[in-house]
Amino acid sequence: MFRHDIIIVGGGLAGLRAALEAGGDVAVISRVHPLRSHSVAAQGGINVALGSTDRWEDHAFDTIKGSDYLADQDAVEVLCKDAPQRVIEMEHWGTLFSRVDGMIAQRPFGGAGYPRTAYAEDRTGHALLHTMYEQALKKGIKFYEEWLITRLVVAGGKCMGLVGYNIADGNIGGFQAKAVIFATGGYGRIYQRSTNSIINTGFGCAVAYRAGAALEDMEFVQFHPTTLYGANILITEGARGEGGFLKNKNGERFMKRYSPNLLDLAPRDIVARAIQTEINEGRGFEGGYVNLELMHIGERNIKERLPGIRQIAMDFANIDPVREPIPIQPGQHYSMGGIASDKDCRTSIKGFYACGECSCISVHGANRLGGNSLLETIVFGKIAGENAKEYAKTRDFESQDTIDKAVDDETGRISAPLNKKDGEPFFTIRDELKKALDENVGIFRNEMNLSSALRKTRELQSRYKNVYIRYKGAVFNQELVNAIELEGMLDIAEVICMGALARRESRGSHYRLDHPARDDANWLKHTLVAFTPEGPKIEYKPVNITMYQPKAREY
Ligand code: FUM
Repeated sequence: MFRHDIIIVGGGLAGLRAALEAGGDVAVISRVHPLRSHSVAAQGGINVALGSTDRWEDHAFDTIKGSDYLADQDAVEVLCKDAPQRVIEMEHWGTLFSRVDGMIAQRPFGGAGYPRTAYAEDRTGHALLHTMYEQALKKGIKFYEEWLITRLVVAGGKCMGLVGYNIADGNIGGFQAKAVIFATGGYGRIYQRSTNSIINTGFGCAVAYRAGAALEDMEFVQFHPTTLYGANILITEGARGEGGFLKNKNGERFMKRYSPNLLDLAPRDIVARAIQTEINEGRGFEGGYVNLELMHIGERNIKERLPGIRQIAMDFANIDPVREPIPIQPGQHYSMGGIASDKDCRTSIKGFYACGECSCISVHGANRLGGNSLLETIVFGKIAGENAKEYAKTRDFESQDTIDKAVDDETGRISAPLNKKDGEPFFTIRDELKKALDENVGIFRNEMNLSSALRKTRELQSRYKNVYIRYKGAVFNQELVNAIELEGMLDIAEVICMGALARRESRGSHYRLDHPARDDANWLKHTLVAFTPEGPKIEYKPVNITMYQPKAREY
């Protein structure tokens, strides 16, 4: 049994920022080494209104309009107001931002009325995560690396701690805590075509859901317009920010038909739909892609500002963007939904907080603007750490019995598929799940496809009961880890399909071909899904509108 005042699950930017703020007897539990967390993969930048010509109110307006008015505006205010302090803090801690004339450089990004995205070449997440990890080392934060948390222990509506599986040696351990923060990342890997790391299975959301925390707005799944054709590695929006543009197979800059004002820098939901429409209507290239052209930006600019994506294009497509266009297609990128949390990162469970991509606070509403997710991690990571620390001061450790009992239960549950001699391997179920979501819960949706995906998910949930593990070893049993996570992936898929089927309108990333209009009269509300033994239960809650009344979105 391990014991800490505050335990943070997730070693990415949000988790580390929370740990720095919480201080004292704090520990971070991470499924991978913190520097392998998905934050490291963020490319294009972090939004911040710096200087005298951009204001936090403008940033907030762009974010709210970009969200198709589903964002909670009080939370957006916190995000945008705090941005300058948090970004400068990272700079002071050592992040090497790109610079122009000695000042932090900022590039245009989608849906932004101002060049507001600060960056470190096209490896911004890498630069920020390394800085944050250095600070965590400096503060002597305790790390438990390569542990998969499988249970959030709750008693009497209060969070008591966690149970985890030590991937390195196969042991199951209990963690007692006065407060727990989840910063476990998104659920992109329930799709096959995704920019996300393999670890992004949404398991943290699933663990919280099973423990009684509601999931919010899960139907809003972001598809990034530009992922490398075939491999689906992210090709940053910063490439269009630096002047790149999209062309169909006829050589036409088609974005003028979809967003006459912002063109290639419209918000992501609009650009992704435009590309998919070009492909669906036969104006894409054979196999299903369009071109992203950077040649006109010039070799020097590409090498200075976009070296990472040049390398990716060369390594994975044998293409040098200095001379040739990059073939791209949309791919799953981000989870707007997550664990329902307020702007103080509190959830419905006392002592349990969430921040970063696993949370739905909700600052992104129905569509996140590029550059706002890195910002969310450092703003709300800090807030989660602060509030968990205050709460922990009010509590004593209670009896260990609840955790011990949970460890026993988890030991039985986790070893069951290991003890089976035959059954179905996890990967057939996982692969069928991903295919069902790619094909039916994508950029364009309708009742028939969503119902089919929900039916398939439920069939797979029933087949999951028969899963067995072929490799019986205790050390780094990746097959077992994947199988454990798959149960959570099925829960998440079910919740997404149910929310998407119920929402009979189109808003942001959720586009229903059978209900193509936004419907504020009936659907300007958040979806909440709670786990019950009888199945998921849907409820709704109002959107906090404080500054900007919903209007038609025109770009
Ligand atoms: O395109 C990008 O660089 C992604 C940025 C983001 O998702 O915020």
